[in-house]
Amino acid sequence: MRKILLLIICVFTYGCTENHIGRAPLPQGDSLVIAHRGASAYVTDNTMAAYNLAIQMGADYIELDLQMTKDGKLVVLHDTVVLLEDKEHAVADVTLSDLQKSYTPREPKKIELVDASYSLPDLRVMDLEEVLLHFGDDINYFLEIKSPSIYPDIEKKLLSLLREHHLLDRNDQNPKVIIQSFNEDILRKIFAMEPSIPLVKLYKFDHNAYFTNNRLRKLSQYASGVGVNAEALTLDFIDSTQDAGFHVYPYTVNDEEQMRKLITFGVNGFFTDRPDVGLRIADEEILTVSD
Ligand code: G3P
Ligand code: CA
Repeated sequence: MRKILLLIICVFTYGCTENHIGRAPLPQGDSLVIAHRGASAYVTDNTMAAYNLAIQMGADYIELDLQMTKDGKLVVLHDTVVLLEDKEHAVADVTLSDLQKSYTPREPKKIELVDASYSLPDLRVMDLEEVLLHFGDDINYFLEIKSPSIYPDIEKKLLSLLREHHLLDRNDQNPKVIIQSFNEDILRKIFAMEPSIPLVKLYKFDHNAYFTNNRLRKLSQYASGVGVNAEALTLDFIDSTQDAGFHVYPYTVNDEEQMRKLITFGVNGFFTDRPDVGLRIADEEILTVSD
């Protein structure tokens, strides 16, 4: 009876469809610490070094940005246009091998943490397959599809790679793979093809975050959560978005006070370049609540 009542409220409030019921669940429980492009405060982002460091630190998920090369490889890179030997090239116009030979990061970083227990392999551009071969199903992936409109069939390539690596249709407590994008169309395509993957729609608000009922209704057709620029988040927005059935993940949270505030506000997780700090603050906040 309670379920029927909830469904009636949902349909009247957001015009929810059956898809609303079919969206894949995101992790429950305490705030997730998601290593944004790896432990990218300390070492060049989207590299194996950044991901190894994040995993050694204990991050719950690693976040990777995905683009596609001319030779159809899904590469782990943030920018759609990159520097190769000081000249700009669209990733779509070059091969993985070109990137591995000549890519220069715009913001290279050296490791700042001096700790012999952290190993630092090279900083080459990688394709997603290399990451999946390296970590397998030992870790959890938060994948962002960048600029899908210029990469035909990127979703098909991605899903077949994930299937090949046995990362879909599993019964883990937390999903091995979460997919996010600023692009609604690509998320809808993935939902239609593989509804078992939880999807997160990204937003960047200029002012305080806000959703109309119509926006929530549309989101409920495919997304399980939203990622929002942290500075736009308010407690009201977090509460109302969660009440509407969505998880909320702020990006990118590097400041300790902001982490504390957002955890207290009850976000479901946060993206950070400093997963070591994020995990420490998350632990401290849990202890404070249980005192
Ligand atoms: O996950 C959200 C965040 O990664 C989006 O911003 O520019 O860092 O990819 P960006
Ligand atoms: Ca990203």
